Amino acid sequence: MNWTDLQQRAYVPYSNTPSACVIESNTGKVYAGVRIENASFPLTITEYQAGIFGCLSEGEIPSRLYIPPAHPNVPQVWINAYSLEVIRTEELKFAAFADIVLEEPVSFPSVLRELQSKCRIQESNFPVSCLLEIEPGKFISGVNIELSDWQLGLCAERIALAKAVAMGFNEALSIHITAAKGDFISPCGACRQVLVEHMPYKTMYLYHPDATLSEHTPAEFLPAFFNGKSITT
Ligand code: THU
Repeated sequence: MNWTDLQQRAYVPYSNTPSACVIESNTGKVYAGVRIENASFPLTITEYQAGIFGCLSEGEIPSRLYIPPAHPNVPQVWINAYSLEVIRTEELKFAAFADIVLEEPVSFPSVLRELQSKCRIQESNFPVSCLLEIEPGKFISGVNIELSDWQLGLCAERIALAKAVAMGFNEALSIHITAAKGDFISPCGACRQVLVEHMPYKTMYLYHPDATLSEHTPAEFLPAFFNGKSITT
């Protein structure tokens, strides 16, 4: 893997400015992060969120952040939050990124519940987990991750999508989502806007706390959605 190949995984149809970073955990596991723009500016997922949260969502602690030589300076907030060592390097010398692809679970609700041990929810105490289907029967997990700066956190759904795109999977097939509390599991407005850009008519399986399951699509949950394609075509 070199920077050019990794940067090509970024989803930047609006600015055409691809960005990537690599996170190494304190046990030496390596995670990719790429920028994922959204037609709605502030919903853009940065390469830092993608890489750092991808690492944390796998239960690993980020330790080093690698960027290419011409990359802008890393915002101090990310360096401070996880005491990261920033390394500018031309070459990426890793054998492989950590394997984050999961087989289809026998029981979605129980695997989703187990995943919630990886949530970092010190502010809300509201655990959310999901499994994004990236190829038939293959999944990438997401859990919600918070910082004391609330604005920097990211929902489970967007973390799963960021992990998938950074690993080169661009065709999400479905998403299975649960939360431990509440009456009706319902992706937030920001997640709806991001999911509608990547998988408007794919199924969202919602596992409600009363053990019922309902099926919807991002488009159904965001009527008359703003279509990013109107900008790029
Ligand atoms: N959250 C999700 O992970 N997904 C959603 O769709 C709704 C909200 C998280 C974000 C935050 O960590 C907590 O739930 C409360 O908003």
